[in-house]
Formats: sequence, structure tokens, C-alpha cells
Amino acid sequence: MLDFAIFAVTFLLILASRQASGIPGLAPTDEKDGNLPDITASGSLHEFLVNLHEKYGPLVSFWFGRRLVVSLGSIDLLKQHANPNRLLDPFETMLKSFLRYQSSLNGDTGESHLRRKLYENGVTKSLQSNFALIQKLSEELLAKWLSLPEAQHVPLCQHMLGFAMKSVTQTAMGSSFEDDREVIRFRRNHDAIWFEIGKGFLDGSLDKNMTRKKLYEDALMEMESTLRKVTKERRGRSFNRHVLIDSLLQGSLSDQQILEDTMIFSLAGCVITANLCTWAVYFLTTSEEVQQNLYKEVDRVLGKGPITPEKIEQLRYCRQVLCETVRTAKLTPIAAQLQELEGRVDQHTIPKETLVLYALGVMLQDSSSWPSPYKFDPERFNEESAMKNLSMLGFSGSQECPELRFAYMVATVLLSVLVRKLYLHPVKGQVMETKYELVTSPKEEAWITVSKRS
Ligand SMILES: *[C@@H]1O[C@H](CO)[C@@H](O)[C@H](O)[C@H]1NC(C)=O
Ligand SMILES: *[C@@H]1O[C@H](CO)[C@@H](O)[C@H](O)[C@H]1NC(C)=O
Repeated sequence: MLDFAIFAVTFLLILASRQASGIPGLAPTDEKDGNLPDITASGSLHEFLVNLHEKYGPLVSFWFGRRLVVSLGSIDLLKQHANPNRLLDPFETMLKSFLRYQSSLNGDTGESHLRRKLYENGVTKSLQSNFALIQKLSEELLAKWLSLPEAQHVPLCQHMLGFAMKSVTQTAMGSSFEDDREVIRFRRNHDAIWFEIGKGFLDGSLDKNMTRKKLYEDALMEMESTLRKVTKERRGRSFNRHVLIDSLLQGSLSDQQILEDTMIFSLAGCVITANLCTWAVYFLTTSEEVQQNLYKEVDRVLGKGPITPEKIEQLRYCRQVLCETVRTAKLTPIAAQLQELEGRVDQHTIPKETLVLYALGVMLQDSSSWPSPYKFDPERFNEESAMKNLSMLGFSGSQECPELRFAYMVATVLLSVLVRKLYLHPVKGQVMETKYELVTSPKEEAWITVSKRS
């Protein structure tokens, strides 16, 4: 059964089976499932694409069920394919298709452009309005770590998820999430939904197990009803802290659209922020030199004063650390675009309505774009051209998605608060394995230790 193939949900508009148009790649191993068994055997779509590109080069094809998919694995090919005027955010498009929300693909472009602007501005404005809150949450985490006995192992993923979740829920929905019980409930549903989005859709196991499917749908429903309730409470009233829902309520959106946008931000904002913070702190533990450089910059720019939105602009090295974190961790390894009109990449034609994957994880470890690609080296982003390459991939500059922009800001505040007072250390002998889903995370808990800076 193939009705699970995620992309199918919104992309399976046209089911005509196509010829592989001469693009190198795999023939289907299964008549119905195409290459899905191969993807499952590789462990993840990202790992499958790494192998495929290694074997067949930067342009490859394979089959999602009966649908031909083309994957691009180099920055040069991406440059040829990407349309700088496109409105779609590939990450959001994928997430929406998982949640079975109407993709803006079907909307009139003028309207979806406005909706997108409203969302982006809403994220920016609510972040400004909640800057002090993010600072407070960072200070709380610092206080917690300072109170630990030295050498105590800190469960990094768990703490970062908690921190991200408080930041995101309060920025998106306001003070009802100051109540820890609300956050815990949110977290339960969030975890249940992400578990299936990361795994069950991609390997088809969700549709084969009714118990899991029910758990997933119940979690989604409970989350939606929370979001509806908050929206209703805030409609027509004013509060001293502006949150994302307030911005959305000011536009001419339907209730369903408000629900979808808040859901996307709550889900994607949490995972992206949590994992950016986790990986950044983890990579810092692996390099005393980078940590010291970061400390020096924070000390020079902030002195004894607090961090402010204006000061963030001056924390250039910190931004390099975060960019290098995104690159080394391959934070979001896959993006997808639907080929609207027939197009060309290299000498190959890509037929209309082909699903085109951007194998970002492959491009981020390509040694022809990034010398010593497995090395965590923020210095590489000293060069303007490296920044340009990263922004081509949507991880920086004007193409960066609002959730990532939010995450960069939150992570900057957190790092500046932490490195001023603490040394971050690795736990010896820990082997860090990686789980590549829609967002990349450590496979198991990542442990660190901290000590006070004297
Ligand atoms: C279905 O999922 C439930 C809950 O995760 C699990 O306990 C059960 O073993 C699964 N059933 C099958 C047949 O895999
Ligand atoms: C940017 O990418 C291009 C094309 O892959 C590559 O030639 C160039 O070396 C990259 N620049 C840097 C600084 O990584």
C-alpha cells in the first residue's frame, strides 16, 4: 500500500507513471513500493541518498512507490534548479504534506504570498516582543546548570527540548504556557506527532499499525484543540506581550489557516530550535578553541551588559558557530520541491510534476564545496563565498525559513548566557550516533558536563 508515501499526500495529484528520462539511478525493486524497501534498509532517506549520489553522481532518480523522484546532490545543480522567486519554503511544504494540510501549491499565489509575509512578520515581531522572556529562560537554564555538582552528567537533548519548548510555546501562544502542566501536555503530543512524522510516514509503518495511527491522530487532535482554544481566548483582546497568534489574528485568515500556521510554527520551531541548541553546545564541548573564541567575542561585545537584539548583529563569530553547527550536523537533510513546469538540469529534462528532492545533507558534506567537510570549523564562514553557499541551501540570508531564523536568535541568546559563566565539556568515551529524520538529532541522549568559569 502506498497511500502512506508522505509526499503522496499532496503531491500525488497526478499518478501517471513516467519514464526515468535518462537520469541515472535505481529501477524500482518492488512494483508497488518502488525503492521504499531500499530506503528502509538504508536506515533513513538521507543515508539512502548519500549512497545513491556516491554511486550515480550528483543527479539521480529513484521511485517512491510508482512515482519517479529526482534528487539533486550538488550546490551547482541546485543553483541551476532553484528559482529565487519561489514562494514555497520546501521544509514547510513537506511538513504540511505530512499533516495533510492544504499546501499553498493550490492557492492563488498573490494570496499565499501575503499569508507567508504575515507569518514571517509575525514570527519576527513576536520574537522581538519576547526577547526578555528568552533571556529569562536562558538564565534559568544557566542557574540550573550552575547548581549541579561538578562532573554531574547533563542530559543535553532533554534540557534543550524543554528550553526550546518553553520558548516556542510562549512566543507563539502566550502566557497560558507559563504553566508547566500545559507545557508537559504539549510536549507529550509534540513527541507523539514528531515520532510519526520522522519515522512512520517515511517507512510506511504508521499506516500498517492501527494502534499507532490512533495515538498519532489523537495527539494531533488534542494539539489542534489547544491551539484553537488559545486563538479564541486572544481574539479581539490585547495583551502586553505580543505573540504569533496575535499577528495571525490581525490578517484576514480563516480559523483553519491560523490553526495550520500556529501548528507549523509550534512543531517545526521546537524541533529546529532544540536541535540547533543541542548540536551547538555539543560541538562546543568538542573544541576548547572555538569555545574560547566565542567567549572572547561575547566578552568584547557585551562586556558586563545584557544581550540585546542590536548586540546580536555584532556577534559575528557566534553566527559562524551556528552556521557551522547547521552544516556539520546537517540539521535538515532533505528539502522537496514539486517541479511545476518542465525544466532542465545539466543536459537532462525534468518532466513537469516530478518531485524534486534537494539532498541538502549530501551537499553539506560535499568536499568539493567544503574542504574537510567533517571538521567542525566555524572559521570557514569567514569567507563570504562560504556564506553564499549556505544561503543557496536555505540556511542563511533571505532564503532562511522563519523557524530557523527564530532558532538562530534563541540559540545566540542561550550561548551568550552559557559561555560567559561556564566551560562546557564532553563526556569521555561517548559515541555520538545520529538519527536523520526531517530534522537531524542525536540517536541517544547526548551527555555533557559543565564547570564554572573563574
Ligand atoms: C503497534 O504499535 C503498538 C504501539 O506502539 C505496539 O505496542 C504494537 O506492538 C504494534 N503492533 C504491531 C503489529 O507491530
Ligand atoms: C561554494 O561552492 C562552490 C560550488 O560547489 C565551490 O566551488 C566553492 O569552493 C564553495 N566555496 C566555499 C568557500 O566553500
